Amino acid sequence: MYNFDEFIDRKGTMSMKWDDESLQATFGSKDVLPLWVADMDFKIAPAITEALQKVVDHGIIGYSGTDEANKALANWMSRRHNWDLDYKTVVNTQGIVFALNLAVQTFTRPGDGVLIQRPVYYPFTNAIVNNGRKVVSSSLVKNGHDFEVDFSDFEEKAKDPNTTMFILCSPHNPLSKVYKADELKRMLDIAFENDLLVIVDEIHGDLIMPGVEYTTVGNLGKDYSDKVITCISPSKTFNLAGTQWSGIVIPDDKLRHPFSRTIEQLGIGIHNPYSLAAVIAAYNDSEEWLDELIKYIYANYEYLKERLGAELRVDVLKLEATYLAFADFSKFGLTREELDHKMVHEAKVGLDSGHWFGDEGEGYMRFNLACSRSTLEEAINRIVKTFK
Ligand SMILES: Cc1ncc(COP(=O)(O)O)c(C=O)c1O
Repeated sequence: MYNFDEFIDRKGTMSMKWDDESLQATFGSKDVLPLWVADMDFKIAPAITEALQKVVDHGIIGYSGTDEANKALANWMSRRHNWDLDYKTVVNTQGIVFALNLAVQTFTRPGDGVLIQRPVYYPFTNAIVNNGRKVVSSSLVKNGHDFEVDFSDFEEKAKDPNTTMFILCSPHNPLSKVYKADELKRMLDIAFENDLLVIVDEIHGDLIMPGVEYTTVGNLGKDYSDKVITCISPSKTFNLAGTQWSGIVIPDDKLRHPFSRTIEQLGIGIHNPYSLAAVIAAYNDSEEWLDELIKYIYANYEYLKERLGAELRVDVLKLEATYLAFADFSKFGLTREELDHKMVHEAKVGLDSGHWFGDEGEGYMRFNLACSRSTLEEAINRIVKTFK
């Protein structure tokens, strides 16, 4: 019903992923086929287009605000993830990266340690370092085809009195990993015992692959959900990254008030009507589109895994969630610079390099699978030709 196979030319559309200016700045070459930054090459769901069209047709872009977006988010979480949250506990921010920075500024002091699990989405590191805090990584360790939590290392790092916050990426980017409920509880129990404030980034929580069971922290029970700050957004789910709208669920007043105060101090508080219209239409009327999308992404993953495995003997991690697949190119024995150079200047494909996510990601390349099959096929053809 939805044509995810359609190739849509995004060059010259102010796209960070596709425009020459951005590619040149990121890869040192504009001549790459881009499968990097996490947005999709697919058109948004029809209900979202209609809602945006209505705003344009109305012709007035005034100061805007409504509870309907947070209500739509709460209904979605209840319907899709079985978490009944109070929409009044949702604080809106212009994106989750912004929320992570606000949380670090509000709840930690300069010099404090913030626990993360590398290799992980690099803005986690930036939010810590740019605010003068210290990165404490309890790195995920490779075990066969999976990366796992080393609980004794995690506990040791959580116990350090200088560590005051834990930022959890669940599902995990770039490992496309879904934590099981007991793993989540074990990490959170350790964090709580050691008085760490837990920020959970669930931006990829709707992109769960077929047959995988996902638990939002909200669903672990109030002993967990009420103590943490959970970051939710339709931006990955519905390809709305440009709307920069997210819902930060903070049930505890003692956390919500200071967080909101930081936002007030920055003088930010106005929503734009495009984002609100898009978010409401996404959460209320676009579920079928998402279900179809997930099937397409998973088929792209199977295609990638099959071809890289058969033609290069390159292993791709299991895709449990997200549209981001992490592939292990370490067998070629190249340094990070050599691997990057080969990918960009010989294969002419723009991917996220594993080491961007921390040294632990070295040797890996992250593929953005939210593209038409023809784009993926072309990228694989180029890579196979170069690396074979
Ligand atoms: C784990 C994670 N958090 C946050 C973001 C970005 O969020 P936002 O655009 O809302 O700042 C991404 C984007 O890829 C992500 O992977």
